[in-house]
Amino acid sequence: MIDLRSDTVTRPTDAMRAAMAHAPVGDDQFGEDPSVNALQERVAALLGHEAALFVPSGHMANQLALKLFTAPGDDVIVGRESHAVWHETGAGAAIAGVQFTEIGTDGRFLPAELAAAIRPRGHLVQAPTTLVEVEDTQNRMGGLVWDRPVLEGVIAVAREAGVATYLDGARLLNAAVARGEEPAALAAPFDLVSIALSKGLGCPVGSVLAGAAELMAPLRRYRRMLGGALRQSGILAAAGSYALDHHVERLAHDHAHARLIADRLAAAAGVVLDATAVETNIVVFRLDEGAPDAATVVARAAARDVAVMAFAHRTVRAVTHLDVSRADCERAAEVLADAVTAA
Ligand SMILES: Cc1ncc(COP(=O)(O)O)c(C=O)c1O
Repeated sequence: MIDLRSDTVTRPTDAMRAAMAHAPVGDDQFGEDPSVNALQERVAALLGHEAALFVPSGHMANQLALKLFTAPGDDVIVGRESHAVWHETGAGAAIAGVQFTEIGTDGRFLPAELAAAIRPRGHLVQAPTTLVEVEDTQNRMGGLVWDRPVLEGVIAVAREAGVATYLDGARLLNAAVARGEEPAALAAPFDLVSIALSKGLGCPVGSVLAGAAELMAPLRRYRRMLGGALRQSGILAAAGSYALDHHVERLAHDHAHARLIADRLAAAAGVVLDATAVETNIVVFRLDEGAPDAATVVARAAARDVAVMAFAHRTVRAVTHLDVSRADCERAAEVLADAVTAA
């Protein structure tokens, strides 16, 4: 099976497993795991922040950001089709007790759109906006990358309004590689940022939050509150350090493979896709009314050993990663094009 359902399906390589097996460990709840501490220091530096915290998942990183910066009843501004709204089991409402306002059209938004959407504090009826969350790259709309000046404009607007800023950078390193930016240039202006280890970087588990040193104590507390405080988690952190050494530059291959799939699909009748917008490892394409629906395309592709995901009735997602080769992606592109165009 050529599995393009997600970049989370990768298995650790033998070399990554060896790094995990030999990791020095200790009890991280006492702050004594050298491998966790080393990863946290490294990610903090990579993202231009003072300190960092290893957490079990991107989902938990996002919930911790909400707990840290908001109170129940607050409003959080996000882009259209954000992970926070679509893929987190309603956790923002259930755990932090917030409501979300989705703005913009393609998952990204402009500083002026943020300025227009911020709700005031102390209003008799409105929920106050206390946090803005940016997703870079933006998953559901097709791995879209934010322009750095737009990020900076959004942060300036938020700061002016006293609104905290959080970057869900699950795939921030994809964005950085795609644009030739330093990760810190994209991440440092935010109050808090997370990156995922278990997606393009190919680790089995984990995300890392980075921000000011003073934020780490409350984040640790909320991490424990949500059941995410681990013990000898250096075994997991070692995979992250290995990936930062060996799996970052190669993201460019995943991006080229995604573009190859996008170029083939964009030429297929019935597919709606702007291949030029595919800069990273995610291809999201829509199916015309005359074409089969997403479930049919997924089933036809699966019958020929290509796995992709139906994102909506007429929307399909394919994601490239380190466990699929260029030849796999060439074959997958043909299979998907056939799946759409077959009678
Ligand atoms: C943008 C984004 N944020 C957060 C997450 C959640 O990460 P995890 O699966 O580690 O909980 C994902 C997962 O796909 C994601 O795409």
